[in-house]
Amino acid sequence: MELDVLVVGGGLAGSRAALAIAQKNPQHRIGLMAKTHPIRSHSVAAQGGIAAALQNLDPADNWLAHAYDTIKGSDYLADQDAVELLTRSAPEVIIDLEHLGVLFSRFEDGRIAQRPFGGHTHGRACYAADKTGHAILHELVVNLQRLGVRLFSEWYALELIYEDGEVKGITAFEIESGKIEVFCARSVLLATGGYGRVYRTTSNDFASNGDGLHLATKAGLPLQDMEFVQFHPTGLHPAGVLISEAVRGEGAYLINDLGERFMGHYANSSQRMELSPRDITSRHIEEEILAGRGIGGQNFVYLDVRHLGAEKIRSRIPFAREEGLRFLGIDCIEAPLPVRPTVHYSMGGIPTNTDTQVLDATLNPVPGLFAAGECACVSVHGANRLGANSLLECVVYGRRAGEIIAARLGDRQMPKLNTHTYELRAEQRLQNLLRSQGTRRIADLRQELQETMTQTCGIFRNARSLTQGLNRLQCLHDEYQQNLHLDDRNLTFNMELVQALELRSLLTVAMAIASSALERCESRGAHSRSDFPERDDSQYLRHTLVYVQQNLWRTASRPVNLCLQSLDRDRFSPKERVY
Ligand code: FUM
Repeated sequence: MELDVLVVGGGLAGSRAALAIAQKNPQHRIGLMAKTHPIRSHSVAAQGGIAAALQNLDPADNWLAHAYDTIKGSDYLADQDAVELLTRSAPEVIIDLEHLGVLFSRFEDGRIAQRPFGGHTHGRACYAADKTGHAILHELVVNLQRLGVRLFSEWYALELIYEDGEVKGITAFEIESGKIEVFCARSVLLATGGYGRVYRTTSNDFASNGDGLHLATKAGLPLQDMEFVQFHPTGLHPAGVLISEAVRGEGAYLINDLGERFMGHYANSSQRMELSPRDITSRHIEEEILAGRGIGGQNFVYLDVRHLGAEKIRSRIPFAREEGLRFLGIDCIEAPLPVRPTVHYSMGGIPTNTDTQVLDATLNPVPGLFAAGECACVSVHGANRLGANSLLECVVYGRRAGEIIAARLGDRQMPKLNTHTYELRAEQRLQNLLRSQGTRRIADLRQELQETMTQTCGIFRNARSLTQGLNRLQCLHDEYQQNLHLDDRNLTFNMELVQALELRSLLTVAMAIASSALERCESRGAHSRSDFPERDDSQYLRHTLVYVQQNLWRTASRPVNLCLQSLDRDRFSPKERVY
């Protein structure tokens, strides 16, 4: 199979990129490969909004304020040139989405509606009720089909073909038939999303296993800032599904067992209360629970919206209400919802420059390889992402990836490669799994991995817990290699085989997270070390890089870019974060 461009991942970043390439030149042979159909990608579950300084709610807003909020929210670890690009482009990409057909919610005068979100000083989250990802992704996919992008749905990418110093394609297999195929491509874009399934409780769907990150590490490429795992403050307890931040944006209260709005008790959140950034809000919920002030002494607090009134709840946050009813039989118009932090987002990922080119161990771009969206680390979120900035990143950097790939395709020849070698290697890998003669089932190993990460590398971590976690992960890795058991030994539609491959990705990602967390001896953003509670700019105002091969890892680091593209360095220099 020869293509000009292969996009791996059908969510918002991948779809926006593929669309940008097709818009530039419909003659390009563009393939979009994904484990599911694109409209079932996890982006479809994004709820509360997409940030842009449109000034519809707050005329005082502007891109610079958005940039400042994002940089402060990142605990100063974001690369400021990347943030500038993100926030300056934001209003224009929203209008572009609208022109593509996205049905945003409206104010009465017809302008796109906006609402407040955590850590943003102005109300700038544009939304489609609380189903924003759904509204955007559906329009993108409809447009992709209209422009003739070829969809390879339910294909699993097995290997990134990186030889002679350039990326030449991907080896993949079709889940339905088991057929192995080498996709030769002049450019490959990884847009494979996040890895929430590394943990026991997550808002992410079952497909979020970090497959793209695993592909990159297997090719010897680094991952960046993996210690920064975002816990969203309000996962519905006990399932962990997301109750959108939009609910707090509309005015919901967080309440402890004493009936108090406890966010007011903490110095770093007493002004913004429930609309403090996620790292701070999640930590304070956890602290309330650890202090025995969870509801009835249990491990959750309440999210109360009753004072908003039935009409507002029904029109602005209908999905949150539906979730309460469907999962717990609780109608939030009448009773508060039980919530606690749930793993939601990965700030780290495959390092790229602002042109979305993937960086190698020497921090030079890998010819032919690009990454965008949650699997990438460009880095606009640093140590903590603000809500509504991830859809924005997908759309801004997805489109940018597409435009850059299309503009530079002329410089890339169709690569020459011995496809047979790669087919054989893939065949061997699948057969090894199908023939494994061990006793440990996938679900069993996966659960142990998730428990290990939850207990040793959660909201709070320290050297002891992380070392224990890493030792356990090494044992799990060995068990995976030597003692795996599969019941289904066919190649056709074998979801157990897919899960075995996904478990391999989870193991790699878990090691990358825990080893990076051990390396960073400070607390910053979502990385909270009980043994190093302070931020330490003198040593750690740097990005962590980690290389994982089998069950071994090695770390390095690189500087943060503290300069906006167009302004002087001192404007947003690091200082203490108080909200
Ligand atoms: O809470 C939410 O609706 C999530 C938004 C986000 O992660 O950006």
